[in-house]
Parts: sequence; C-alpha cells; structure tokens
Amino acid sequence: MDKNINIDHKLIEYIFSHTDNLHFVQKELLEYNESLGHIKRLQISILQANFLQFLIKSNSFKSCLELGTFTGYSTLSMALSLPKNGKIHTIDIDNGRNIIAKSFFKKAKVLNKIKIEISNANVALDKLIKNNKKFDLILIDADKENYINYFNKSLRLLNKKGMIIVDNILWKGEVINNNSRDKINTKIKNFNTHVKKTKINKYILPIGDGFYICWK
Ligand SMILES: C[S@@+](CC[C@H](N)C(=O)[O-])C[C@H]1O[C@@H](n2cnc3c(N)ncnc32)[C@H](O)[C@@H]1O
Repeated sequence: MDKNINIDHKLIEYIFSHTDNLHFVQKELLEYNESLGHIKRLQISILQANFLQFLIKSNSFKSCLELGTFTGYSTLSMALSLPKNGKIHTIDIDNGRNIIAKSFFKKAKVLNKIKIEISNANVALDKLIKNNKKFDLILIDADKENYINYFNKSLRLLNKKGMIIVDNILWKGEVINNNSRDKINTKIKNFNTHVKKTKINKYILPIGDGFYICWK
C-alpha cells in the first residue's frame, strides 16, 4: 500500500500559512464563488490552482489553453503566473459567467494576457487545429461528456514539451465504485481508460477532484 496522509481543513490552513499569499483578486474571486452556493463546486481547488501556477513558473510556460472558464479562478491564477508576454486562451460556452470573469481579470490587471472565447469547446478546438495553434499547457475542465474528444484534439495542439492537465478524473472517489449509476462517472471512467491506452507520459495527482497530468 502507498503511504498518504489525510488532508483535512486544519492541514490545508497550515499549508496556506506556509506558502505564498494569494493575490487579493484571487481572494475576492474565491469569496464571490463562495456566495454562489452549490455551484461554487465547479471551481478548481486552491491547491490545484497553486499547482498550475507552479507548473507554469517552473517550466517557463508562455501559452496556455483552458476549456471551461466558469467565473475565472483557474484562468486568473494561471494568468498571474505567466510572464508579461504570456497568454492564456480560455473557452466557455456560457456568456453570463464570462462577464463576471472579465471583471476580475481587469481588476487584477491581467486582461491583456487573456483571450476569452465564448464558444462550444469542440468547435473552438477545431478552429485552433485548423489555424495550427500550439500551447504549452492545456487545462481540460469543461463538460465531462466530451473529455475524450477534448483530449484527442488537445494532443494535436500541444507544444513538444507541453502538458495536458485534466480535472475531475477521480470524480469524488466514485471512479472505484462499481455500483455507481452516475452517468458522468461512467464517462470519466471511459476517459481514464482512454488516456491509459494512449501512448503518452502520464501521472494522476490526487489533489482536488483529481488531475491527470499528461505530456509527450
Ligand atoms: C467545471 S467548470 C470550469 C471551472 C473553472 N476552470 C474554474 O476553476 O473556475 C466547467 C465550465 O465548462 C463550461 N462548459 C460546459 N460545456 C461546455 C462546452 N460544450 N463548451 C465550452 N464550455 C463548456 C461551463 O459553462 C462551465 O463554466
């Protein structure tokens, strides 16, 4: 058996008190998401966002693509870590939430690093492939039904030393529940099997709802 400790709220507080402070707009955005009630669960966790920031900084990534903006916590976190000439292209089908996200990006003075596209992610990905675009980091966090499509298309958009990160791949731990009738759980399990069979380097990092980390 592997050795892992349980990370409860107190330990998370301890982790936060021993790492760099969040940007004040990250804090405001977290408070805003908190006010949304149940739907706040759509946001990636603070630790996941910190990890994305670490990847961007330690690999000197300059170009990111994100599927699933929501209110912009993951986008903002990545934009704050990108260099001045770095860019993140974020795609979401929902126009209403994009307006909220944009107001936070503006406040954090990172709007110039962010391209917001309101579109179906599949359509947007096809367009990017057609235009021969390449990215250093691709975060897949939109509708789970399309994860296999998003992943296959992302492989074509990835720079040589780039990474694809996929969220929710442990689905609250339900991926090991054989009695689960949750349709999304089945989709996630199929997706995980698909990645397993794909010839690419991969790790699963059990933070938040689970990150698949893939690179060529
Ligand atoms: C889990 S949330 C993204 C959370 C965000 N990354 C964050 O950390 O705050 C998923 C988002 O995907 C968007 N979405 C759902 N289906 C989509 C589609 N077909 N194309 C593009 N975006 C989609 C939803 O509108 C939602 O905002």
